Amino acid sequence: MNIRSIELKNFRNYEDLKISFDAGTNILSGDNAQGKTNILEAVYLCGTTKSHRGSRDKEMIRFGADEAHIRVVLVRSGKEYQIDMHLKNGRSKGIAVNRLPIRKAGELFGILNIVFFSPEDLNIIKSGPAERRRFLDTELCQLDRIYLSDLTNYNKILNQRNKLLKDIVYRPDLQDTLQVWDMQLIDTGRRIIRRRKQFVDELRELVRDIHYRISGEKEELLIRYEPNVKESLFEEELNRIRLRDLKLCQTSVGPHRDDLLFSIRDADLRKFGSQGLLLDDVLSELDSNRQNYLLNNICNIQTVITCTGLDEFVRNRFQINKVFEVINGQIFEKGLLDSVQ
Ligand SMILES: Nc1ncnc2c1ncn2[C@@H]1O[C@H](COP(=O)(O)OP(=O)(O)O)[C@@H](O)[C@H]1O
Ligand SMILES: [Mg+2]
Repeated sequence: MNIRSIELKNFRNYEDLKISFDAGTNILSGDNAQGKTNILEAVYLCGTTKSHRGSRDKEMIRFGADEAHIRVVLVRSGKEYQIDMHLKNGRSKGIAVNRLPIRKAGELFGILNIVFFSPEDLNIIKSGPAERRRFLDTELCQLDRIYLSDLTNYNKILNQRNKLLKDIVYRPDLQDTLQVWDMQLIDTGRRIIRRRKQFVDELRELVRDIHYRISGEKEELLIRYEPNVKESLFEEELNRIRLRDLKLCQTSVGPHRDDLLFSIRDADLRKFGSQGLLLDDVLSELDSNRQNYLLNNICNIQTVITCTGLDEFVRNRFQINKVFEVINGQIFEKGLLDSVQ
């Protein structure tokens, strides 16, 4: 996949912008608060329909404007896609793929696949299981539409079951219907557990390998999936715990309680925190060996990296394909800026 260009109209501090990316390494350089992260946010939005910062649509519309537009053009498996996003004040956003409006966010998944890294990603490790499940789900939903639909269903069934548990307090005769929800919960829940396990198994190999090399072969980073209940035992556990569920009026076993464990050798990162892997302002977080490894190993992936200074790149002679200077909502291709000066 290769992002060709992005156009912004009244998005954040950009009034009207169009830039073309290189298929290799792109650098957005500039002082703080100039608009570097805003560009990454716009790209992320077109991939996932959501802001990586959790901002609401109206917060992303340029101050004083009524609406914002984003257009990303990309090529995937030889086919060109144009994603248009129309942010409105107080109404839900409009999205079109190749000029055809889409109704469900799910229709966008799988077109623009991106991985976003920022120092805040360390929160995945430092904060609670809900944050880690969100990470897992965001990645899986991008990869797998069936998972997306299973997860949506599971959450609906879970809500219905919890509501029923509360209703039973007043209407014990409703207890018979619990079985119906349980069967559906077990069915979708088991599929979710199976898929998460498979995904983390794949991720584990990759992450361990990358981290091993980034750390100069000194550390071994392990990710482990910790299901709240094993797939094969979900039914049994749900039955076993039914009386407690009825008392607490909530569902106390299932993949909605899953977690991920990160460890370096034997140390649990959730307790110690650590440097993350990667690319919004992350270079400054890595020592030069890790920077070296990282930048030398992303040359066959399209990357957009933000940073405040270019010194590091120049000094280490990293392969850079395009440099943009970001100044207060305006972007200059570095060559252009040089000739102006
Ligand atoms: N809705 C908005 N309208 C106009 N400007 C905005 C809006 N939201 C954020 N900004 C501006 O964007 C800038 C921050 O951009 P950001 O991309 O986070 O900076 P950085 O270059 O440090 O990554 C700030 O100057 C902020 O005032
Ligand atoms: Mg930033």
